[in-house]
Amino acid sequence: MTRILSGIQPSGELHIGNYLGAIANWVELQHRYESFFFIADYHAIGTVAYTPEDISRRVREMATSLLAAGVDPDKCTLFVQSRVPEHTELTWIFNTVTPLGELERQTQYKDKASRQESVMASLLNYPVLQAADILLYHADLVPVGEDQVQHLELSREIARRWNSKFGVQYFEEPKPLLTKSRRIIGLDGQAKMSKSLGNTVGLLESSESIWKKLRPAMTDPARVRREDPGTPEICNIYHWHEAFSPPETVEHVANMCRTAGWGCIDCKRVLLDSMNRKLEPIRERAADLNAHPERVDAALDSGAERAAEVAGKTMQETKHIMGLA
Ligand code: ADP
Ligand code: TRP
Repeated sequence: MTRILSGIQPSGELHIGNYLGAIANWVELQHRYESFFFIADYHAIGTVAYTPEDISRRVREMATSLLAAGVDPDKCTLFVQSRVPEHTELTWIFNTVTPLGELERQTQYKDKASRQESVMASLLNYPVLQAADILLYHADLVPVGEDQVQHLELSREIARRWNSKFGVQYFEEPKPLLTKSRRIIGLDGQAKMSKSLGNTVGLLESSESIWKKLRPAMTDPARVRREDPGTPEICNIYHWHEAFSPPETVEHVANMCRTAGWGCIDCKRVLLDSMNRKLEPIRERAADLNAHPERVDAALDSGAERAAEVAGKTMQETKHIMGLA
């Protein structure tokens, strides 16, 4: 059976951009592939500022959000990266076959390093850890967004270089499984929804809180008065309808907008209803998990156990091939 693996950094609560762009896809894929999903806490401590309280809270919130969103521990293996020490062990080994130049060429590294005064080695080595994440599980496919394609290319090269150094075909080259990139634009109607831009709607936000954000949210900038006909295609609220509303509603919304049959606020009310229909079950599951934290623990414990089995075997075989203990 084809195996897939993907990771997400524990940034705390998910927003609807993360959900539509990545997690909803995981939820679908887990039924079709043997799936490994993990919370990349080692990547997070290598890239963002944090305190011990932050990191443990964020990991927990991410686990809760993922489970609430429909990641099913009976269908896939869900685990926390730092609970499986083989990730860092294989990273060291891969460091020995990764050219420094390749790491320095990574766009994400150049981007982030240029904005920091003092750059830590973890920022540079980030993609080596990512290669270890993937190759430890012999993943065939890696569901990611465009921004991770370069890192995946490096994982492929690391697999090739290690294989050729030891004259074996042990690590297969993983392929990206590109999410049909639903790039969700934020409340400002301009930039990609992102935690760092403060233009997000949280996956677990209450209906009231979502409405407070939706009311003033940007629509078609050319539609100034209620009587002006709008152009749905250039309105971000319309695109959110495409993500949340059933096709009949999307069509109705487009008509009412073009004919100025209703104002933007009416359109937003319908959107809120559609969002609630999709998000309310997720909010309920999250509330349930928060009331029973032992269920989150149980899911992560069994995930770590299953992941460690696979990772342990790969590590043993790798060291054996290399002539290590
Ligand atoms: P953020 O930009 O809020 O920090 P991340 O970069 O941690 O989010 O993204 C985590 C995952 O969610 C990635 O797989 C990314 O491709 C996806 N994602 C993030 N923002 C969006 C968005 N606005 N639209 C679609 N997918 C997104
Ligand atoms: N770097 C990825 C991101 O920021 C997260 C990640 C870490 C990952 N390890 C991975 C994704 C392995 C896929 C496979 O989104």
